Amino acid sequence: MTSAWQMDSETKFYGVLGDPVRHSKSPIMMNRAFRACGINAAYGAFHVTPERLKDAVRGLRALGFRGFNVTIPHKVDVMDHLDAVDERARRIGAVNTVVADDNGVLTGYNTDGIGYVRSLKEETGIALEGKRVALIGAGGAARGIVFALAEEGVASVAVLNRTESSARSLAAEAARFVSCEGMPLNALADIIDQIDLLINTTSVGMHPNVDDVPVPPELLRPHLVVSDIVYNPRNTRLLREAAAKGCPVHGGLGMFIYQGAYAFEYWTGTAAPVAVMREAVEASLR
Ligand code: ATR
Repeated sequence: MTSAWQMDSETKFYGVLGDPVRHSKSPIMMNRAFRACGINAAYGAFHVTPERLKDAVRGLRALGFRGFNVTIPHKVDVMDHLDAVDERARRIGAVNTVVADDNGVLTGYNTDGIGYVRSLKEETGIALEGKRVALIGAGGAARGIVFALAEEGVASVAVLNRTESSARSLAAEAARFVSCEGMPLNALADIIDQIDLLINTTSVGMHPNVDDVPVPPELLRPHLVVSDIVYNPRNTRLLREAAAKGCPVHGGLGMFIYQGAYAFEYWTGTAAPVAVMREAVEASLR
């Protein structure tokens, strides 16, 4: 694909704010998407520390940025600096995508959970309605995923976390939307035969701790679909152990691609070129 694109005075600007942000694959993915769709836009990565977040958002507004993503550690705090937060993001309690309208009004959305679910369905073919889910972890990623699963009509979600109190408080919030219970990590042994889908939302197993697993592999059963949001490495030890037992497995790269695809669609109104975006990220991970 050759491109004669050049930045000019009509170029629309986007970017990601994070701390750290240097590892982010979003610029590669989004700029490739803009080029593939012939959109005159550019996407940068901005290292913004928490004490500068407010100024950064004011700056983007003043400069007429059309939208931006926020990542760790800004997903909660950014909400204080926006003009509006959509209902799903408010429920989740976190924003990862901001859209600016023609008047500079900034609205926050959350595309992490819906991105995860779109990837899970496309890559495994799973029908989520009526499924019983065990979710490991109760942090920001877990929140988005629990509420997105609820929207898909799963039968129940058990939230298991190292810190049991966080699992219980997330479950109490989600219980308005889906049958949900919080429990300690070691309760997995008691419920493993009653679940259909196991999802790791913690960073356990992420590079460089690639030999770590969030749950004892001997608990895995062939009937389970096993999903891990970690995507570096692509094939975590959890997924390898699960595949060895005969479980269908789902890795974390798709969640990243699709959270970006939804953001792209919110910003441009154009269907995201998902295959091209995936190819760009995969190439940069090799
Ligand atoms: P994120 O926004 O990526 O979800 P987070 O909000 O910091 O990140 O949440 C991290 C999650 O991974 C938490 O559920 C955390 O458990 P605690 O609530 O007990 O801290 C979990 N986690 C991180 N490291 C872990 C480990 N070594 N063992 C078990 N759980 C871990």
